[in-house]
This record gives sequence, structure tokens and C-alpha cells, in this order.
Amino acid sequence: MTEGPELGSSDMSSPVTASPQSNGDTATVTSVIGAESVGAVSGERGSGATVRLEGVTKRYAIDKDVVIMAADDVNLDFAAGSSTALMGASGSGKSTLLHLMGAMDTPTSGRIFIDGQEITALSGRKLAAHRRSIGFVFQRFHLLPALSVEANVMAPLLPYRTNFDLKARARELIASVGLAGRENTIPSRLSGGQQQRVAIARALIGRPNLLLADEPTGNLDSTTGDEILKLLFDLHRDHGVTLIIATHDPRVAERCQSIVRVKDGVVVAGPHPHGGQVTAPVRP
Ligand SMILES: Nc1ncnc2c1ncn2[C@@H]1O[C@H](COP(=O)(O)OP(=O)(O)O)[C@@H](O)[C@H]1O
Ligand SMILES: [Mg+2]
Repeated sequence: MTEGPELGSSDMSSPVTASPQSNGDTATVTSVIGAESVGAVSGERGSGATVRLEGVTKRYAIDKDVVIMAADDVNLDFAAGSSTALMGASGSGKSTLLHLMGAMDTPTSGRIFIDGQEITALSGRKLAAHRRSIGFVFQRFHLLPALSVEANVMAPLLPYRTNFDLKARARELIASVGLAGRENTIPSRLSGGQQQRVAIARALIGRPNLLLADEPTGNLDSTTGDEILKLLFDLHRDHGVTLIIATHDPRVAERCQSIVRVKDGVVVAGPHPHGGQVTAPVRP
């Protein structure tokens, strides 16, 4: 019995599709890039970014005879506000794709567009500004150990002028992830789940329109992992961000609108957790 959304390459209502990207409003991104202050991120609820990968390849030359294709001609479209699980065995290329979409790494070839803006064509300050419009949650939290919870959440925007009260926003986010009262605590005094909550609040400080999470429950026990997932999907709903989660965890996939499976750097078809088959949402 299939209770979940039917996903397939012919299903154009699937949030991750082969359909051409619309020439949507790119004001959010373009107004951040090149701006002196981070004013453009102070707006209200975002609409979520579209993400497009065109022929994206990432090669690692290990030595002169060994080349790893961590991403191999990947073509994907993610709709604004959609949620997608990026699934595959360890080493299949999930983190590589997230790092490329997060502009933390550059592809060997191919192009990536966020809200119609080609991020693979950006460099310097424009690239740095673009990175601030993307939230990233890591498996190992990556908090700064000497800083308080509040300072960790503020950290991504601390070097920049904002046209909103950064501290007030950090406190708001800390409350929204269930940690009100812990603003002045250092990370080592928190549990793993609480540290991941801080990391999620930090990822949201710049009001991102794209939230990338790399195995966010991978270092947590299953109960804590469930709480973190609930939080991520509540935030996805409330903030309207586009959410892409790399995961091994079928519980994550069940909550997502779409699933993209990768194997050896290639997007492949695979089983849907609700039954049936997911055809890889690759453009022809
Ligand atoms: N910096 C790197 N140098 C060399 N090989 C790498 C590097 N990063 C990743 N790889 C290789 O690329 C492949 C994909 O890795 P990764 O994206 O981390 O997979 P996953 O996140 O699915 O476990 C693996 O074979 C990995 O060893
Ligand atoms: Mg990984």
C-alpha cells in the first residue's frame, strides 16, 4: 500500500523535478550580494530558494592512476520550499553534493544555480555574501567550544553590520529551538541533542532560504534524533526554507517530500520508503 507521495520522473508535481527552472524572483540573493550590511536577510519569512544542478561533476585525483568521481554528471532541480532526503551509502557523494550546493566547495565541471543565481560563477565577497544566505547543519555540530550558546548562534554574522538586532534574533532562535535560559552556557555543558539545537539556531541566524543538513541525526541516539528531526521539519514549515538533508536514516526520508538516491556519485533510482519505486529525478 502506498500512503506517501508517489514520486516518479513523470510526476511533475514532485518538488524535485526535471522541469525547467522558472525565471523566478532573484531579489533576495542579488540584494545580499555586494551589500555592505546584511540587511537583506532581515526580512520576514522567506519563500525558500530554488536549487538547480546542471551537469555537476566533482573529481578527486588521489594519485596519478586513481580518480574518484564524488559527483558524476548530477542534474537536479529542487523546488522552492521543498524538503528532500539525499540518501546513499557512506562514500556515495552525499556530503560532496551538499558542500557544492552550500558553496563550500567548487565543482570540477557543471553549474549550480540558487534562486536563478549561478553560484559557481561567484568569487570573493560575492561568494562570501552568498554563503551567508545558506544555512548548514553538520553531523558533528561544529560549535566553537570557548563561546557561549548565544555567541555561537551570532557568530556567522558577528563580523557584519546587520539592520536588525543580532542579539535579539539569536535569543529568539535559541528559544525557538527549546534552549531559552541556556544563552550563556558553553557547548561542553550541553548534551549532543542540545548542541545540535544550537547548531540549527546558528544555521538560521542569517534567515537562509536554503537549509542544508549533513546527517544531522548521525551522532545522536534515536530519541534525541527524533526530537531534532521534529525541530528541523517544524522549522522547515515555519520558515519556508528549502530543506535538503543527507541521511542514512529512513525516518528522515519518510518525512521528506522527495528522495534523491546517490551511488558512487551518480543519482540513481531506488525504493520509496512507503513502497513503490522512486525514479531518480534527473532531467533528460
Ligand atoms: N577531499 C577529498 N579528497 C579525496 N577524496 C574525497 C574527498 N572528499 C570526499 N572524497 C571521496 O569522495 C567520495 C564521496 O565522499 P562523500 O561525499 O563524503 O560521501 P558521503 O557523504 O556519501 O559519505 C568518497 O569516495 C570519498 O572518499
Ligand atoms: Mg557524508
